[in-house]
Amino acid sequence: MQYAPTKQQYYSVFKTLIIVFLLLVLSNQNNDRLYGNETGKSLNKAPSGPAIHVIFTGEENGYLEPCGCSEVQLGGLPRRHSLINLLRKDDNNGIILSLGDIPGKVGRQDEIKMETTLKAFEQMGYTAHNIGEKDISMGIDLLGYLSQISSVNFVSSNIVNLNPQILKIEPYIIKEIKTKETTLKVGILGIVSPGLIDDVYQEIEVVDPIVSLKPLLNKLSDKTDLLILLSHAEIEDSIKIAEIYPEFDLIISGHGIDEPVLHLAKVKNTYVIPVGEKGKYLGTITIPPEFSRRNGDRSSNSFLPPAEIISLDKRFEDSPEMKILLKTYQQRLMDEELLAQVFKTDLPSNLTFIGNDDCAVCHNKIFRHWEGTSHATAYETLVKAEHEYDPECIECHVTGLNYFTGFETIESTPGLRGVGCESCHGPGSNHKETQSKDYGKADVEICEICHEDEHSPNFEFKEYWQKIIHPLEEK
Ligand code: HEC
Ligand code: HEC
Ligand code: HEC
Ligand code: HEC
Repeated sequence: MQYAPTKQQYYSVFKTLIIVFLLLVLSNQNNDRLYGNETGKSLNKAPSGPAIHVIFTGEENGYLEPCGCSEVQLGGLPRRHSLINLLRKDDNNGIILSLGDIPGKVGRQDEIKMETTLKAFEQMGYTAHNIGEKDISMGIDLLGYLSQISSVNFVSSNIVNLNPQILKIEPYIIKEIKTKETTLKVGILGIVSPGLIDDVYQEIEVVDPIVSLKPLLNKLSDKTDLLILLSHAEIEDSIKIAEIYPEFDLIISGHGIDEPVLHLAKVKNTYVIPVGEKGKYLGTITIPPEFSRRNGDRSSNSFLPPAEIISLDKRFEDSPEMKILLKTYQQRLMDEELLAQVFKTDLPSNLTFIGNDDCAVCHNKIFRHWEGTSHATAYETLVKAEHEYDPECIECHVTGLNYFTGFETIESTPGLRGVGCESCHGPGSNHKETQSKDYGKADVEICEICHEDEHSPNFEFKEYWQKIIHPLEEK
């Protein structure tokens, strides 16, 4: 008879413990790969077991995908779709929310972007889009048209709709989420800060959100388990709303914040979470299935679910559906010949762009060296990326797009493809005649027109210039 375990038994228990430990570590790592812990963006650990995801994204600001100019860029609709698919793999009745501001600026390209992005929202299963000031600035006609045709609900709790015939907006939405245990009712409201609206519109009036939210909250508080505000306002204004209306569980805020996690705030009962702009991040709140507060005490918030902000980096693959959508978008830019509509500025004193071939006659050594740099093939880069009809890309990948006599199309101005001599030295028609030494001073400021933070985050003049420095000319 043996009462004390043998060495063997000790050993085997020890072995089991090690295996369990390893399994735990490994399963955690899997989680990290999905939720992005190593990026430091995680606010809280997601609970295990089936759960409901409330997913939210910030201002799009006209950013459909990373351009590919630098390795480290975040975001893009294709990655977002993959992540949403991952998150929703076991429930199909979650909630996906957009904070507002689809376009980046005004113009035809951004109109097409709005349609494209809304189509993407539909395919991803978005529940609601809050109206931001940039959406409004595209004009009430377009916004109205999109609000009519889109299956995504447009929501605003502080835009008074004076023309419901044109514009379809809801002051709030109640979304029901059915789980095995219960049915959750989630109230979704949205505001845009009146201070952000420049123009006056006949069809709408934007009122103080503090005033317009009050009656809505009175109505919704008892009827819902969770109240979410999409707050298209400065973070200070969002915090103020949280102080006045502790009924909100979650205020998704934005505006001018690109490093979202640094700004998380708990104000009384409410989490105020900026989610960052340009679709670079995706936020999610994971609600446990048994969550219900309707009969409980609203002011006690101890069981507020955890939130996470996930960086959309290379861990997430491009979804095929979104890639097709973006291809169609490029096709439309081509069909509508947007390159021909780019706004052009006059050059001073009748100067014109003449193209590299003319320079090559007198500066042959420099020209031949330039031919071997990536500046010379910058246009071909866009062809490879299937973006050569996209004015937003062409600008930095050819010579003189924004000036008369600069690049127009590859057929009409083939000599101005790529980042040519005159991209850095300026139009050379006069210098060709005079051969003046006063021509073409180029320095770091010229580089930084294209090598700016977004497209060339590692740019450092000395180092970059060394890579492409001209050879000495024989005199
Ligand atoms: C503001 C100027 C600018 C705009 C706009 C721009 N690019 Fe670029 N692009 C650059 C610069 C500068 C680089 C080189 C970056 C570096 O190496 O530091 C680059 C590099 C690239 C590269 C990588 C080339 C290689 O060989 O690695 C690709 C691909 C690219 N751009 C595609 C695009 C696309 C597609 C768009 C439009 C969606 C676009 N770019 C818009 C400036 C721009
Ligand atoms: C007909 C011949 C000729 C053509 C064509 C020509 N250059 Fe020159 N370039 C010269 C001569 C000569 C100088 C002066 C060299 C010197 O005196 O050191 C010069 C000087 C320059 C300088 C230096 C100015 C300085 O700071 O000293 C630059 C930059 C330059 N050329 C760029 C260009 C570019 C770009 C083109 C094409 C758009 C071009 N050149 C076309 C002959 C030409
Ligand atoms: C008109 C826009 C524009 C200007 C001005 C410009 N660049 Fe570029 N540069 C680009 C683009 C676009 C690329 C990427 C080309 C590609 O690979 O397709 C690039 C690529 C480069 C690269 C290659 C990067 C790599 O690692 O492959 C270097 C180096 C570079 N630029 C240096 C400079 C310097 C130095 C200046 C200023 C003296 C300058 N550039 C001015 C647009 C510009
Ligand atoms: C990416 C920007 C860029 C491009 C493209 C470029 N240059 Fe330059 N170039 C410069 C800069 C910057 C200097 C000044 C170098 C300095 O101050 O040391 C310069 C200087 C020169 C000079 C003065 C002589 C010298 O070597 O200092 C000549 C001539 C010249 N470039 C001709 C050309 C020609 C011809 C082309 C096209 C084949 C061309 N450059 C393309 C940026 C560029």
